[in-house]
Amino acid sequence: MTLDLDALRHEAHERLLTLTDAGDAADWERDYLGPKGKVTALLRGLGQLPKEDRPAAGRAIQALKTELTDAFTPVQERLQAEALAGKMAGDAVDVTLPGRQPVIGGAHPISMMIDELIEIFAHLGFQAVFGPEVETGYYNFDLLNIPANHPARDVWDTMIVDTPSEEIVLRTHTSPMQARTMERLEPPVRVIVPGRAFRYEAQDASHEWMFTQLEGLAVDRHITMADLKGTLQEMARQLFGPERRVRFRCDFFPFVEPGVDFSVDCAVCDGKGCRVCKHTGWLEMGGAGMVHPNVLRGVGYDPEQVSGFAFGLGIERLIMMKYGVDDVRAFAGNDIRFLRRFSLLNL
Ligand code: FA5
Repeated sequence: MTLDLDALRHEAHERLLTLTDAGDAADWERDYLGPKGKVTALLRGLGQLPKEDRPAAGRAIQALKTELTDAFTPVQERLQAEALAGKMAGDAVDVTLPGRQPVIGGAHPISMMIDELIEIFAHLGFQAVFGPEVETGYYNFDLLNIPANHPARDVWDTMIVDTPSEEIVLRTHTSPMQARTMERLEPPVRVIVPGRAFRYEAQDASHEWMFTQLEGLAVDRHITMADLKGTLQEMARQLFGPERRVRFRCDFFPFVEPGVDFSVDCAVCDGKGCRVCKHTGWLEMGGAGMVHPNVLRGVGYDPEQVSGFAFGLGIERLIMMKYGVDDVRAFAGNDIRFLRRFSLLNL
């Protein structure tokens, strides 16, 4: 036993001299004084000694433990202090270094255009409302004067979600919000509805399966086509500049009568003809017209008392024209170089 203790004492002191950092100190403590250390093992082994030898051996081991602890403590404190000093020196902030430029994100061009449209139409007395992207066939079609089995229903390339008891679709346009709004409000009504629409369409430079529209609806006494034309003309001028001209041509939509399509002369080439306007000088922005009496009746309005206009514009088309973007697929393409061009406009 005496020999064992001396050998251990010698070994522990020798190793204590070699410790160079706090990690070494922790290892040393674990190997000698820790719960599984060699000194602790000796204390645990006391029970195996003859009874009469135990008190002397116990005292000797305790004395060794105290001796090693006393020798170790100052070494440990010194190494821990050195480690702390080293860490503090390493973490010090050099205030003379130039700062790092943070990465600043920006609003998506579609969100920016929606904000701009909300602002323009607010000045014209229109309030922005938002509606569901998953719709029933009743609002997407029936209330818009497009009954089931009517051929006009096929025009919309509809994505059908489910047909439990009635058709559930991804809305093909923002027009269902016309009926939803009128059901809730009494005239006078003046709302715009920005939001996504979905169609099962082949994608090309001017068609996406998911795109964004801006619906507009005004219902009141004595609303006429002149109000519609004036409103859209004002929007075009605010958005593209005072020199822009608008064009209305006859078109058919089951929920308006009469119906028109609405174009703005191309701001990119000033109407002379270019790639963006496909050399026509005009860019079609959407459809519009006077709200059909059947739609007014369907929501409980009296077409003898009130009349209204409605329009639906493609928001991507507005951005394409304003900033000369020639492919609608860029908006959902997630190309950071494209998006960065617009983030500068946020500043
Ligand atoms: C409609 O969606 C009608 N709801 C518009 C309307 C509202 C008419 C109120 C009358 C009264 P249209 O299918 O033409 O109409 O779409 C309107 C605009 O949405 C288009 O002119 C175009 O700018 C945009 N648009 C339509 N389909 C796509 C598509 N696949 N990709 C990108 N933009 C599209």
